[in-house]
Amino acid sequence: MTKINSNYQKLQAGYLFPEIGRRVKAFQQENPQADIIRLGIGDVVLPLAPAIISAMKDAVEEMGTLQGFHGYGPEQGYDFLINAIIQNDYAPRGVQLKNNEVFVSDGSKCDSGNIQEIFDTTCKVAVTDPVYPVYVDTNVMAGRTGAYLTSGHYEGMVYLPANKENQFSPPPPQEKLDIVYLCSPNNPTGATLSREALKAWVDYARQNECIILFDAAYEAFISDPEIPHSIYEIEGAKEVAIEFRSFSKTAGFTGLRCAYTVVPENLKGKNNSGESVSINALWNRRHCTKFNGVSYPVQKAAEACYSPEGQAQIQENIQYYMNNAKTIREGLQKLGIEVFGGDNAPYIWLKTPQNAKSWDFFDQLLTQAHIVGTPGSGFGPSGEGYFRLSAFGLKEKVNEAIERIQKKLQL
Ligand code: MLT
Repeated sequence: MTKINSNYQKLQAGYLFPEIGRRVKAFQQENPQADIIRLGIGDVVLPLAPAIISAMKDAVEEMGTLQGFHGYGPEQGYDFLINAIIQNDYAPRGVQLKNNEVFVSDGSKCDSGNIQEIFDTTCKVAVTDPVYPVYVDTNVMAGRTGAYLTSGHYEGMVYLPANKENQFSPPPPQEKLDIVYLCSPNNPTGATLSREALKAWVDYARQNECIILFDAAYEAFISDPEIPHSIYEIEGAKEVAIEFRSFSKTAGFTGLRCAYTVVPENLKGKNNSGESVSINALWNRRHCTKFNGVSYPVQKAAEACYSPEGQAQIQENIQYYMNNAKTIREGLQKLGIEVFGGDNAPYIWLKTPQNAKSWDFFDQLLTQAHIVGTPGSGFGPSGEGYFRLSAFGLKEKVNEAIERIQKKLQL
């Protein structure tokens, strides 16, 4: 028989969200009458903005003509979209990027999962804990860790606890890391990294020749003007950081698929002989080998996000979700539940009442109030005793969820 990649056998059960789906399905089968409200997976519910639909329709029509037909596009993305990204997402924040530093893709999950391929398997990798599971699992698959330990950690992976005491913003460690994943606004805690915190990380990375993988998929939900949207707002970051951005939550593209990753030209790694190597060139090589580009109509749809109408319509949707976040925060606070996040992020991170275990609270919420959330422990050992609610729901459903929690949950 053919030998498998045994690293996959180190992985725990299923990926978090399918596991939640499995449990909810089982509950629904036993309780077919239950009207379940889903605030678990962070998936958008509002329809795409009219400006996006219109641009995509036009692009589809164009594809039906001889002159307007597009076959394979550039793997890295069309210039019309890359220019719009640079001019709208970066230039106003004082960040200058070149077109070849932006790679359009079909998702930040894929990019943040795939990026580790271009680094050596011996690299010392750190994640904040709790953490978006993709960063951990993809390093496990690649063989960059040892076994899964009873503590909930993988051997060989460095975990930086993010907790109430450090405002869910762990400082750089004493030890030398090769790679660190940071996510701000954070999934799952909803916390953001301040300018000072980010600067400390950039300084650390420069001193320690470490690369920061900065996931900014939720930057559009930041309303506090003091909080950086991009790591490149910090001086020197282009020498040490890769940034992931997505249209998924910003513009409702979870079902359309479009994102981008910035890999600056100045970012360098070293080969086995100790010679400096361009990370941008490596990612470009990988991207061109394994990816054929995002479809033309979808890139046109993404470009429309930057038109004045597109911007206004997208902002309206973001505000809608952030109003939900406020409803959840305040509704839970009224019950004396300790909540975090939800002010510059679409996730609310709550301390489980009576210190319940995360999965126990998941079951309680599902059985007593018919609400689905995400157990904090699914994001790492430091998430135990916490729970995540997503603000990506219809307003009426979110209001009802909070009413149900207030009335039906036996606290
Ligand atoms: C989440 O709920 O954490 C997100 O939907 C995951 C993702 O964006 O892949």
